[in-house]
Amino acid sequence: MTTWIRSLRPFDAPVSRTVNGRTIDLREAERFIRLFHAENPSAGGLQARLRDVARDVARYGTYTHTYEELEFGARVAWRNSNRCIGRLYWRSLKVRDRRDVHTAEGVALECVAHLRAAMGSGKGAARGKIRPTITVLPPDTPVMRAPRILNDQLIRYAGYRTPGGVVGDPANVALTEAAQALGWRGGGGMFDVLPLIIHPGRGRPLLCTLPGDAVLEVPLTHPEYPWFAELGLRWHAVPAISNMCLEIGGLCYPCAPFNGWYMGTEIGARNLGDEARYNLLPVVAERLGLDTSTERSLWRDHAMVELNVAVLHSFEQAGVTMTDHHTESRRFLTHLEREERAGRVCPADWSWIVPPMSGSATPVFHRYYDTRVLTPAFVHHD
Ligand code: ARG
Repeated sequence: MTTWIRSLRPFDAPVSRTVNGRTIDLREAERFIRLFHAENPSAGGLQARLRDVARDVARYGTYTHTYEELEFGARVAWRNSNRCIGRLYWRSLKVRDRRDVHTAEGVALECVAHLRAAMGSGKGAARGKIRPTITVLPPDTPVMRAPRILNDQLIRYAGYRTPGGVVGDPANVALTEAAQALGWRGGGGMFDVLPLIIHPGRGRPLLCTLPGDAVLEVPLTHPEYPWFAELGLRWHAVPAISNMCLEIGGLCYPCAPFNGWYMGTEIGARNLGDEARYNLLPVVAERLGLDTSTERSLWRDHAMVELNVAVLHSFEQAGVTMTDHHTESRRFLTHLEREERAGRVCPADWSWIVPPMSGSATPVFHRYYDTRVLTPAFVHHD
């Protein structure tokens, strides 16, 4: 069951700079409509659509995307994501149009439904076969502020500040404390799934505990070291970013959670390895019996490799979709070539594209990229 807790205090939500109380930029709208028609010639009726959009913007300060425009806009926002190495499959993004959902409870139910759909627990599909999915909730309009999700991902592990340091994920201490201030009581463990904090356009925020079947997790084991399981590590299967605005043609959708599948290094190198996250390299190095008294033993590097072997192995065993950084690097270059053949630039940020381990052993390391910023896009508003 999904549980709700209404908080007692009003919530100070960040305000979108785009369309909250303001009319949208007609030039942005026109540019997008032209792009849509240029890439979808069968849509037809460009001039009529431009006229309608201009009329709506003049009258209401906003306009409404057709489903086809929304689907295309969301896919192109992924295609334009400079930091994402996994863009080869941008055309396959499944777009759930939920622009008719306006309440915080409705948003919460859609987030749960999104997670279930994304991890393939639906009809026929095997649980664990992850499908890139986005759920689009209403945009901001001049007269109505849309709901928002405070969590930066739908699934996040709590981080508890204790006298001995943070227990859990230090990246989520602020979110954990926000949930606690709204009445949530966590178990104090290393991997406690946080509730969603959703604030509606107006009124009080809603706390929503995710039902267990919506959160698929993989316990981590190592193919050669039985002691690895004793560390009690795990990670969730679906990375679903929930605090970025989807910007399409001047419209801002502040609540549009989207997911792909994981690349092993995100978990094995960064989430579990970073000093400011779970900081597990010293723990693993010690269990491996490595000499940590000198950097020159490369104990950090050894430990990182074994952590990543464990992550890839465990997801594979659990039947959960995951990619490795060598395969994904090659796919990214395939994507780049395809885009160039289609007459487009593929903008990319080298510092995000190059994997966090063994960079130069992957082909994406050995070149530079076009760094321009295109829209539609996923953006962070402050
Ligand atoms: N790096 C983030 C994490 O470890 C997830 C970012 C999105 N990743 C993805 N594979 N779609 O949770």
